[in-house]
Amino acid sequence: MRIDILSAVPQLLESPFQHSIIKRAQQKGLVEIVVHNLRDFSTDKHRRVDDYAYSGIAGMVMCIEPIDRAITYLKQQRDYDEIIYTSPDGEPFTQKMANQLSTMHNLIILCGHYKGVDQRVRDHLITREISIGDYVLTGGELAAAVITDAVVRLLPGAISDEQAALTDSFQDGLLSPPVYTRPADYKGWKVPEVLLSGNAKLIEEWNLKQAIERTRKLRPNLLNSDD
Ligand code: ADE
Repeated sequence: MRIDILSAVPQLLESPFQHSIIKRAQQKGLVEIVVHNLRDFSTDKHRRVDDYAYSGIAGMVMCIEPIDRAITYLKQQRDYDEIIYTSPDGEPFTQKMANQLSTMHNLIILCGHYKGVDQRVRDHLITREISIGDYVLTGGELAAAVITDAVVRLLPGAISDEQAALTDSFQDGLLSPPVYTRPADYKGWKVPEVLLSGNAKLIEEWNLKQAIERTRKLRPNLLNSDD
């Protein structure tokens, strides 16, 4: 899989992909993540990628030209399954969406900034808008990092124990059951007896019961949702 990220502030994305599982996924050749500086596609002598809004609304708008040039440059090299724009107006990002995106070959993620992009980018250049939640970030870079992280960890081989990704919260529409590790008794706070029993069937039943109870208590909406 390949993920190209277009950003006006690529420095914001220097660290998130350089550690842990996402770094190893790149080293194993499961994914190539390439961050592009949109300013490299600007024809302006000051490398500007934004301008005033025609409507007079306060705040700058990202110009279509550098974005179009960047996307055209990438599309000349390969086909893309989706061209995603990160924005608070987009479809809410879910585990289901992460699963879908993880089956694709090539993705572009355009990071929004300022007051947003020229509407013609949304109308003509992108295929999908994604929001990571109902709050406004200073830019789409953190959203792009969240989406990339959630997708890459699902690639087969990214997580050593494949079961680990399958038993994630949300993967089966339920939150994860609680987990414990040694010591079995810490200051009198004990690990539930069943987990020490060595009885795999009982433990599996306990896990499922806990997952359902936890979901009912913390996120009851998940139990009635199709996502
Ligand atoms: N850009 C600013 N806020 C955002 C959000 N909540 N999701 C995605 N992109 C954003």
